[in-house]
Amino acid sequence: MGYKVAVVGATGNVGREMLNILAERAFPADEVVALASRRSLGTEVSYGDKTLKTKTLDNYDFSDTDIALMSAGGDISKEWSPKIGAQGCVVIDNSSAWRYDADVPLVVPEVNPGAVDGFRKKMIIANPNCSTAQLVVALKPLHDLFVIKRVVVATYQSVSGAGKEGMDELFTQTRAVFVTDPIENKKFPKRIAFNVIPHIDVFMEDGYTKEEWKMMVETKKILDPKIKLTATCVRVPVFVGHSEAVNIEFEKPVTADEARDILRSAPGCLVVDKHEPGGYVTPIDAAGEDATYISRIREDITVENGLSMWIVSDNLRKGAALNAIQIAESLVNRKLLTARKRAA
Ligand SMILES: NC(=O)c1ccc[n+]([C@@H]2O[C@H](COP(=O)([O-])OP(=O)(O)OC[C@H]3O[C@@H](n4cnc5c(N)ncnc54)[C@H](OP(=O)(O)O)[C@@H]3O)[C@@H](O)[C@H]2O)c1
Repeated sequence: MGYKVAVVGATGNVGREMLNILAERAFPADEVVALASRRSLGTEVSYGDKTLKTKTLDNYDFSDTDIALMSAGGDISKEWSPKIGAQGCVVIDNSSAWRYDADVPLVVPEVNPGAVDGFRKKMIIANPNCSTAQLVVALKPLHDLFVIKRVVVATYQSVSGAGKEGMDELFTQTRAVFVTDPIENKKFPKRIAFNVIPHIDVFMEDGYTKEEWKMMVETKKILDPKIKLTATCVRVPVFVGHSEAVNIEFEKPVTADEARDILRSAPGCLVVDKHEPGGYVTPIDAAGEDATYISRIREDITVENGLSMWIVSDNLRKGAALNAIQIAESLVNRKLLTARKRAA
Protein backbone atom coordinates (compact mmCIF):
# COMPACT_ATOMS: atom_id res chain seq x y z
CA MET A 1 0.00 0.00 0.00
CA GLY A 2 1.27 3.49 -0.85
CA TYR A 3 1.22 6.58 1.32
CA LYS A 4 -1.34 9.35 1.65
CA VAL A 5 0.39 12.71 1.31
CA ALA A 6 -1.09 16.15 1.99
CA VAL A 7 0.55 19.23 0.47
CA VAL A 8 -0.34 22.20 2.70
CA GLY A 9 0.13 25.48 0.81
CA ALA A 10 -0.45 23.68 -2.50
CA THR A 11 -1.32 26.89 -4.37
CA GLY A 12 1.97 28.60 -3.42
CA ASN A 13 5.35 28.64 -5.14
CA VAL A 14 6.78 25.84 -3.04
CA GLY A 15 3.56 23.82 -2.83
CA ARG A 16 3.14 23.69 -6.62
CA GLU A 17 6.77 22.60 -6.97
CA MET A 18 6.17 19.89 -4.35
CA LEU A 19 3.32 18.48 -6.41
CA ASN A 20 5.54 18.51 -9.53
CA ILE A 21 8.39 16.76 -7.76
CA LEU A 22 6.17 14.12 -6.09
CA ALA A 23 5.00 13.18 -9.59
CA GLU A 24 8.41 13.47 -11.31
CA ARG A 25 10.12 11.24 -8.75
CA ALA A 26 7.15 8.84 -8.60
CA PHE A 27 6.93 9.13 -4.83
CA PRO A 28 5.02 6.03 -3.63
CA ALA A 29 1.76 7.85 -2.89
CA ASP A 30 -1.69 6.29 -3.36
CA GLU A 31 -3.36 9.59 -2.72
CA VAL A 32 -2.18 13.20 -2.78
CA VAL A 33 -4.36 15.95 -1.30
CA ALA A 34 -3.88 19.66 -2.05
CA LEU A 35 -4.68 22.01 0.86
CA ALA A 36 -4.54 25.79 1.17
CA SER A 37 -6.50 28.64 2.73
CA ARG A 38 -10.25 29.18 2.30
CA ARG A 39 -9.44 31.66 -0.48
CA SER A 40 -8.28 28.77 -2.67
CA LEU A 41 -11.16 26.34 -2.12
CA GLY A 42 -11.67 24.52 -5.43
CA THR A 43 -8.59 26.03 -7.13
CA GLU A 44 -7.11 23.48 -9.51
CA VAL A 45 -3.45 22.50 -9.19
CA SER A 46 -1.47 19.99 -11.26
CA TYR A 47 -0.05 16.75 -9.93
CA GLY A 48 1.66 14.99 -12.83
CA ASP A 49 -1.00 14.53 -15.49
CA LYS A 50 -3.79 14.81 -12.90
CA THR A 51 -5.59 17.91 -11.68
CA LEU A 52 -6.38 18.22 -7.98
CA LYS A 53 -9.05 20.50 -6.53
CA THR A 54 -7.69 22.36 -3.52
CA LYS A 55 -9.39 21.76 -0.17
CA THR A 56 -9.16 23.98 2.91
CA LEU A 57 -6.76 23.25 5.74
CA ASP A 58 -9.32 24.36 8.35
CA ASN A 59 -10.80 21.28 10.01
CA TYR A 60 -9.04 18.88 7.62
CA ASP A 61 -8.78 15.46 9.29
CA PHE A 62 -5.19 14.13 9.08
CA SER A 63 -5.92 10.88 10.95
CA ASP A 64 -5.43 8.73 7.84
CA THR A 65 -2.70 10.88 6.22
CA ASP A 66 0.90 9.65 6.48
CA ILE A 67 2.90 12.73 5.46
CA ALA A 68 2.04 16.44 5.48
CA LEU A 69 4.38 18.54 3.36
CA MET A 70 3.87 22.01 4.87
CA SER A 71 4.65 25.20 2.99
CA ALA A 72 2.09 27.69 4.24
CA GLY A 73 4.35 29.94 6.33
CA GLY A 74 5.54 30.03 9.93
CA ASP A 75 2.32 31.12 11.65
CA ILE A 76 0.26 28.37 10.05
CA SER A 77 2.96 25.85 10.86
CA LYS A 78 3.18 26.91 14.52
CA GLU A 79 -0.55 26.42 14.86
CA TRP A 80 -1.04 23.35 12.68
CA SER A 81 2.09 21.18 12.79
CA PRO A 82 1.63 20.02 16.42
CA LYS A 83 -2.05 19.26 15.76
CA ILE A 84 -1.20 17.29 12.61
CA GLY A 85 1.62 15.44 14.39
CA ALA A 86 -0.73 14.57 17.25
CA GLN A 87 -2.94 12.80 14.68
CA GLY A 88 0.01 10.52 13.85
CA CYS A 89 0.90 12.21 10.55
CA VAL A 90 4.54 13.26 10.12
CA VAL A 91 4.99 16.92 9.17
CA ILE A 92 7.87 18.01 6.92
CA ASP A 93 7.85 21.76 7.34
CA ASN A 94 9.34 24.41 5.09
CA SER A 95 8.93 27.39 7.38
CA SER A 96 11.38 28.52 10.06
CA ALA A 97 8.86 27.77 12.87
CA TRP A 98 10.51 24.53 14.11
CA ARG A 99 14.06 24.59 12.74
CA TYR A 100 15.75 25.61 15.98
CA ASP A 101 13.75 23.30 18.27
CA ALA A 102 16.10 20.70 19.81
CA ASP A 103 13.38 18.04 19.42
CA VAL A 104 12.94 18.68 15.70
CA PRO A 105 15.46 17.30 13.20
CA LEU A 106 16.71 19.85 10.63
CA VAL A 107 17.65 17.77 7.63
CA VAL A 108 19.43 18.00 4.29
CA PRO A 109 19.57 14.38 3.12
CA GLU A 110 22.99 14.72 1.40
CA VAL A 111 24.46 16.12 4.62
CA ASN A 112 22.85 14.69 7.78
CA PRO A 113 20.46 11.91 6.66
CA GLY A 114 20.65 10.12 10.02
CA ALA A 115 19.09 13.11 11.80
CA VAL A 116 15.61 12.07 10.58
CA ASP A 117 15.68 9.18 13.07
CA GLY A 118 14.68 11.60 15.88
CA PHE A 119 11.45 12.74 14.22
CA ARG A 120 9.01 10.92 16.53
CA LYS A 121 9.53 13.31 19.46
CA LYS A 122 7.27 15.90 17.82
CA MET A 123 6.39 14.17 14.53
CA ILE A 124 7.90 17.24 12.83
CA ILE A 125 10.97 17.43 10.58
CA ALA A 126 12.22 20.84 9.50
CA ASN A 127 13.55 21.82 6.11
CA PRO A 128 16.28 24.49 6.23
CA ASN A 129 16.21 27.96 4.74
CA CYS A 130 16.72 27.92 0.97
CA SER A 131 20.13 29.63 1.17
CA THR A 132 21.37 27.22 3.82
CA ALA A 133 20.29 24.08 1.94
CA GLN A 134 22.41 24.71 -1.16
CA LEU A 135 25.33 26.00 0.92
CA VAL A 136 25.65 22.93 3.17
CA VAL A 137 25.36 20.54 0.20
CA ALA A 138 28.56 22.12 -1.20
CA LEU A 139 30.33 22.57 2.15
CA LYS A 140 29.83 19.06 3.55
CA PRO A 141 32.20 17.10 1.26
CA LEU A 142 34.94 19.72 1.78
CA HIS A 143 34.37 19.87 5.55
CA ASP A 144 34.70 16.07 5.81
CA LEU A 145 38.23 16.23 4.38
CA PHE A 146 39.68 19.66 5.17
CA VAL A 147 37.64 20.84 8.24
CA ILE A 148 35.99 24.24 7.77
CA LYS A 149 36.89 26.95 10.29
CA ARG A 150 35.08 29.98 8.91
CA VAL A 151 32.72 30.83 6.05
CA VAL A 152 31.91 34.28 4.64
CA VAL A 153 28.85 34.34 2.35
CA ALA A 154 27.11 36.98 0.29
CA THR A 155 23.81 35.78 -1.17
CA TYR A 156 21.99 36.93 -4.30
CA GLN A 157 18.47 35.67 -3.60
CA SER A 158 15.65 35.54 -6.13
CA VAL A 159 12.22 37.07 -5.52
CA SER A 160 10.49 33.65 -5.54
CA GLY A 161 12.08 33.16 -2.12
CA ALA A 162 9.53 35.73 -0.92
CA GLY A 163 6.56 33.72 -2.26
CA LYS A 164 4.24 34.36 -5.17
CA GLU A 165 3.73 37.99 -4.05
CA GLY A 166 7.49 38.53 -4.46
CA MET A 167 7.39 37.29 -8.06
CA ASP A 168 4.33 39.42 -8.81
CA GLU A 169 6.10 42.52 -7.45
CA LEU A 170 9.16 42.09 -9.67
CA PHE A 171 6.93 41.52 -12.70
CA THR A 172 4.62 44.47 -11.99
CA GLN A 173 7.43 46.90 -11.20
CA THR A 174 9.44 45.89 -14.28
CA ARG A 175 6.42 46.44 -16.47
CA ALA A 176 5.70 49.77 -14.73
CA VAL A 177 9.22 50.98 -15.53
CA PHE A 178 8.68 50.34 -19.25
CA VAL A 179 5.19 51.85 -19.47
CA THR A 180 6.10 54.67 -17.02
CA ASP A 181 3.39 53.72 -14.51
CA PRO A 182 3.91 54.66 -10.84
CA ILE A 183 5.96 52.07 -8.94
CA GLU A 184 4.63 50.69 -5.66
CA ASN A 185 6.69 48.80 -3.07
CA LYS A 186 4.41 46.33 -1.27
CA LYS A 187 6.30 43.10 -0.60
CA PHE A 188 9.85 44.49 -0.58
CA PRO A 189 11.02 47.52 1.43
CA LYS A 190 12.53 49.22 -1.64
CA ARG A 191 12.00 48.89 -5.37
CA ILE A 192 13.28 45.49 -6.57
CA ALA A 193 13.04 46.03 -10.35
CA PHE A 194 16.50 47.04 -11.66
CA ASN A 195 17.79 47.20 -8.07
CA VAL A 196 19.28 45.03 -5.27
CA ILE A 197 18.17 45.14 -1.62
CA PRO A 198 20.58 44.16 1.20
CA HIS A 199 17.77 43.23 3.56
CA ILE A 200 15.84 39.94 3.84
CA ASP A 201 13.54 39.19 6.80
CA VAL A 202 13.55 41.37 9.93
CA PHE A 203 16.50 43.18 11.56
CA MET A 204 17.97 41.69 14.73
CA GLU A 205 19.42 43.73 17.62
CA ASP A 206 23.03 43.19 16.49
CA GLY A 207 22.39 44.62 13.01
CA TYR A 208 22.22 41.27 11.18
CA THR A 209 18.96 40.33 9.49
CA LYS A 210 17.05 37.21 10.53
CA GLU A 211 17.86 35.63 7.13
CA GLU A 212 21.60 36.04 7.87
CA TRP A 213 21.13 34.68 11.39
CA LYS A 214 19.27 31.64 9.98
CA MET A 215 22.24 30.76 7.76
CA MET A 216 24.65 30.89 10.73
CA VAL A 217 22.47 28.87 13.12
CA GLU A 218 21.25 26.31 10.58
CA THR A 219 24.73 25.56 9.21
CA LYS A 220 25.84 24.80 12.77
CA LYS A 221 22.84 22.54 13.46
CA ILE A 222 23.07 20.62 10.18
CA LEU A 223 26.82 20.44 9.58
CA ASP A 224 28.97 21.31 12.61
CA PRO A 225 28.46 23.66 15.59
CA LYS A 226 32.16 24.61 15.41
CA ILE A 227 31.84 26.30 11.99
CA LYS A 228 31.87 30.11 12.19
CA LEU A 229 29.77 31.75 9.49
CA THR A 230 28.95 35.33 8.62
CA ALA A 231 26.48 36.25 5.88
CA THR A 232 25.12 39.23 3.98
CA CYS A 233 21.79 38.33 2.38
CA VAL A 234 20.69 40.33 -0.63
CA ARG A 235 17.49 40.23 -2.70
CA VAL A 236 18.12 40.57 -6.44
CA PRO A 237 15.74 41.00 -9.40
CA VAL A 238 15.87 37.35 -10.49
CA PHE A 239 12.69 35.23 -10.55
CA VAL A 240 14.07 31.82 -9.59
CA GLY A 241 17.47 30.62 -8.33
CA HIS A 242 19.63 31.76 -5.45
CA SER A 243 23.36 32.45 -5.93
CA GLU A 244 26.05 32.67 -3.27
CA ALA A 245 29.59 34.05 -3.33
CA VAL A 246 31.32 31.98 -0.67
CA ASN A 247 34.74 32.29 0.95
CA ILE A 248 35.91 29.38 3.12
CA GLU A 249 38.87 28.97 5.49
CA PHE A 250 39.92 25.40 6.27
CA GLU A 251 42.11 23.86 8.96
CA LYS A 252 43.97 21.75 6.38
CA PRO A 253 45.52 22.87 3.07
CA VAL A 254 43.37 22.37 -0.01
CA THR A 255 43.90 23.32 -3.64
CA ALA A 256 41.22 24.45 -6.08
CA ASP A 257 41.87 21.29 -8.16
CA GLU A 258 41.35 19.03 -5.15
CA ALA A 259 38.11 20.84 -4.23
CA ARG A 260 36.86 20.56 -7.83
CA ASP A 261 37.55 16.80 -7.89
CA ILE A 262 35.84 16.19 -4.56
CA LEU A 263 32.78 18.26 -5.43
CA ARG A 264 32.49 16.53 -8.82
CA SER A 265 31.70 13.23 -7.10
CA ALA A 266 29.75 14.63 -4.14
CA PRO A 267 26.00 13.87 -3.84
CA GLY A 268 23.76 16.65 -5.11
CA CYS A 269 26.70 18.71 -6.48
CA LEU A 270 27.49 19.55 -10.10
CA VAL A 271 30.71 21.41 -10.92
CA VAL A 272 30.68 23.73 -13.96
CA ASP A 273 33.95 25.60 -13.80
CA LYS A 274 35.58 26.56 -17.09
CA HIS A 275 37.79 29.62 -17.12
CA GLU A 276 36.09 31.16 -20.13
CA PRO A 277 33.09 33.42 -20.78
CA GLY A 278 29.93 31.51 -19.80
CA GLY A 279 31.90 28.67 -18.19
CA TYR A 280 29.93 29.02 -14.92
CA VAL A 281 26.33 28.62 -13.79
CA THR A 282 23.84 31.47 -13.40
CA PRO A 283 20.37 31.29 -11.77
CA ILE A 284 18.62 30.97 -15.14
CA ASP A 285 20.67 27.82 -15.84
CA ALA A 286 19.80 26.32 -12.45
CA ALA A 287 16.03 27.08 -12.49
CA GLY A 288 14.02 23.89 -12.79
CA GLU A 289 17.05 21.71 -11.97
CA ASP A 290 17.79 19.66 -8.87
CA ALA A 291 21.56 20.09 -8.52
CA THR A 292 23.57 22.49 -6.44
CA TYR A 293 25.93 24.00 -9.01
CA ILE A 294 29.44 25.08 -8.08
CA SER A 295 31.53 27.37 -10.28
CA ARG A 296 34.46 29.80 -9.97
CA ILE A 297 36.41 27.58 -7.53
CA ARG A 298 39.72 29.28 -6.76
CA GLU A 299 42.33 29.56 -4.03
CA ASP A 300 42.10 32.65 -1.82
CA ILE A 301 45.70 33.71 -1.42
CA THR A 302 44.86 36.32 1.24
CA VAL A 303 44.31 33.66 3.94
CA GLU A 304 45.87 30.33 4.91
CA ASN A 305 43.95 27.38 3.41
CA GLY A 306 41.30 29.53 1.77
CA LEU A 307 38.97 28.89 -1.17
CA SER A 308 36.39 31.06 -2.91
CA MET A 309 33.50 29.74 -4.98
CA TRP A 310 30.11 30.50 -6.53
CA ILE A 311 27.16 28.30 -5.59
CA VAL A 312 23.80 28.37 -7.41
CA SER A 313 20.62 26.33 -7.01
CA ASP A 314 16.88 26.50 -7.64
CA ASN A 315 15.55 27.84 -4.33
CA LEU A 316 12.08 26.37 -4.90
CA ARG A 317 13.54 22.89 -5.52
CA LYS A 318 16.70 22.11 -3.50
CA GLY A 319 15.96 25.13 -1.29
CA ALA A 320 12.48 23.89 -0.43
CA ALA A 321 10.29 21.35 -2.28
CA LEU A 322 12.94 18.88 -3.46
CA ASN A 323 14.67 18.77 -0.08
CA ALA A 324 11.31 18.14 1.65
CA ILE A 325 10.51 15.25 -0.70
CA GLN A 326 14.01 13.81 -0.31
CA ILE A 327 13.33 13.80 3.46
CA ALA A 328 10.05 11.95 2.84
CA GLU A 329 11.94 9.46 0.64
CA SER A 330 14.50 8.88 3.35
CA LEU A 331 11.72 8.09 5.86
CA VAL A 332 10.45 5.50 3.39
CA ASN A 333 13.87 4.09 2.45
CA ARG A 334 14.99 3.85 6.09
CA LYS A 335 11.68 2.05 6.84
CA LEU A 336 10.75 4.65 9.46
CA LEU A 337 7.21 5.09 8.18
CA THR A 338 4.49 2.54 7.43
CA ALA A 339 1.42 3.58 5.47
CA ARG A 340 -1.61 3.80 7.71
CA LYS A 341 -4.80 1.82 7.18
CA ARG A 342 -7.45 3.78 5.37
CA ALA A 343 -11.11 3.12 4.72
CA ALA A 344 -11.53 1.55 1.29
N1 LIG B 1 10.10 30.24 -1.71
C1 LIG B 1 11.21 29.70 -1.23
O1 LIG B 1 12.30 29.73 -1.85
C2 LIG B 1 11.18 29.03 0.08
C3 LIG B 1 12.28 28.30 0.45
C4 LIG B 1 12.30 27.68 1.68
C5 LIG B 1 11.19 27.80 2.48
N2 LIG B 1 10.11 28.52 2.10
C6 LIG B 1 8.97 28.59 3.00
O2 LIG B 1 7.86 27.88 2.45
C7 LIG B 1 6.65 28.51 2.85
C8 LIG B 1 5.80 28.85 1.63
O3 LIG B 1 6.53 29.68 0.75
P1 LIG B 1 6.00 30.02 -0.72
O4 LIG B 1 7.14 30.69 -1.37
O5 LIG B 1 5.38 28.84 -1.37
O6 LIG B 1 4.83 31.10 -0.38
P2 LIG B 1 3.58 31.51 -1.27
O7 LIG B 1 3.85 31.36 -2.71
O8 LIG B 1 3.18 32.85 -0.76
O9 LIG B 1 2.43 30.45 -0.87
C9 LIG B 1 1.88 30.38 0.43
C10 LIG B 1 0.93 29.19 0.51
O10 LIG B 1 0.43 29.13 1.86
C11 LIG B 1 -1.00 29.06 1.80
N3 LIG B 1 -1.64 29.65 2.95
C12 LIG B 1 -1.57 30.94 3.37
N4 LIG B 1 -2.37 31.11 4.44
C13 LIG B 1 -2.95 29.92 4.70
C14 LIG B 1 -3.90 29.45 5.65
N5 LIG B 1 -4.44 30.28 6.57
N6 LIG B 1 -4.27 28.15 5.63
C15 LIG B 1 -3.77 27.32 4.70
N7 LIG B 1 -2.88 27.70 3.74
C16 LIG B 1 -2.48 28.98 3.75
C17 LIG B 1 -1.35 29.83 0.54
O11 LIG B 1 -2.66 29.50 0.15
P3 LIG B 1 -3.60 30.57 -0.60
O12 LIG B 1 -3.17 30.54 -2.05
O13 LIG B 1 -4.96 30.00 -0.37
O14 LIG B 1 -3.38 31.90 0.05
C18 LIG B 1 -0.29 29.31 -0.41
O15 LIG B 1 -0.65 28.05 -0.89
C19 LIG B 1 7.06 29.71 3.69
O16 LIG B 1 7.08 29.30 5.04
C20 LIG B 1 8.46 30.00 3.23
O17 LIG B 1 9.23 30.65 4.20
C21 LIG B 1 10.07 29.13 0.89
